[in-house]
Amino acid sequence: ATVNQELLKNFRECLYKKLGGPHEIQPGRKVTIAGAGAVGMGCAMALLCQGVTNHLALYDVKEDWMAAERLDLLHGSLFVNNPRIEQCTGVAATKDSRVVVVTAGARPTGNETRLDVAQKSADIVKTLMPRLLEQSPRATFVIVSNPSDVMAWVARKVTNLPPERCFSTGCHLDTARFRLFIGQLLGIAPRSVHGFVIGEHGGSSVPLWSTVSVGGVRLQEILPVIGTPKDPMHWSTVHKDVVAAAFKVSAVKGYTNWAIGLTIADVVSAMFEDSNRVLSLATNVQGICGVQEEVFMSIPCVVCAHGIAAIVRPHLSDWEKDQLQKSAKILLEAQRGIKM
Ligand code: LAC
Repeated sequence: ATVNQELLKNFRECLYKKLGGPHEIQPGRKVTIAGAGAVGMGCAMALLCQGVTNHLALYDVKEDWMAAERLDLLHGSLFVNNPRIEQCTGVAATKDSRVVVVTAGARPTGNETRLDVAQKSADIVKTLMPRLLEQSPRATFVIVSNPSDVMAWVARKVTNLPPERCFSTGCHLDTARFRLFIGQLLGIAPRSVHGFVIGEHGGSSVPLWSTVSVGGVRLQEILPVIGTPKDPMHWSTVHKDVVAAAFKVSAVKGYTNWAIGLTIADVVSAMFEDSNRVLSLATNVQGICGVQEEVFMSIPCVVCAHGIAAIVRPHLSDWEKDQLQKSAKILLEAQRGIKM
């Protein structure tokens, strides 16, 4: 096999075939935000301020709320690039979106984990998805509703969309937190700390210490047990902090929204630029790393204009493989627990 074949599981051909050709992409940069709560509006703000798009549509069951959020954004038009935010005319406002970001779902409260609200979120996502797809049959769907890995699977199940066009931000945010926290300990910008978190967006996420590097130097070469339970320097606390990050914020605010908003802006801009950047997103990992079933969880993915162009087949240490199997098992059980 060539390096390319060994490294990547490619979807480009089948993506194009299903779409009827590489040119059958939805024109424009209209992004729908389904769910105009704190997370949805964090996404809207980040998309506008980062200049990713100036064309948004909001969709929410709370119509008065959504209309007020729309006005509040619109009143800032002078300060961003002439935004166009569709009149809130129900689901019709979302017509012909190129990307649909789904944030509608249940919010974990108190000691609840993301997985604890799976059924409540699934009930919302499964009624919402077909209606959104009907309006935007050529869109790519990015699921944020928690538990986001499981909800991406639900969204795919109810629409039969290819996983490459229906996935979740997954561990892209966990990866951002991981790179930030390592950077803080080393005095290095998070952009110059490389590495990935994969698996569940939640408690069983897997920090790939074998991939962590700064300036081309892998930290594992300096400290072979880095991040494992055997690590005398306790770098494993970095991953504990990643897992605790959302709880720490939502314990006070009731939710997180700014970092996930920026995460969405990054994913959508990676698509609009047809960038081929590699991000840790949750998609179907069947056949990767020994996973037998259709399980949605994060893995480094190559992002193109349509969505996911390819998956990078990770080379994992034994400890990492073990952790990833555990994460896959937890997510498969959660998927099986959903009443459709
Ligand atoms: C977080 C939420 C989006 O991790 O799950 O901030």
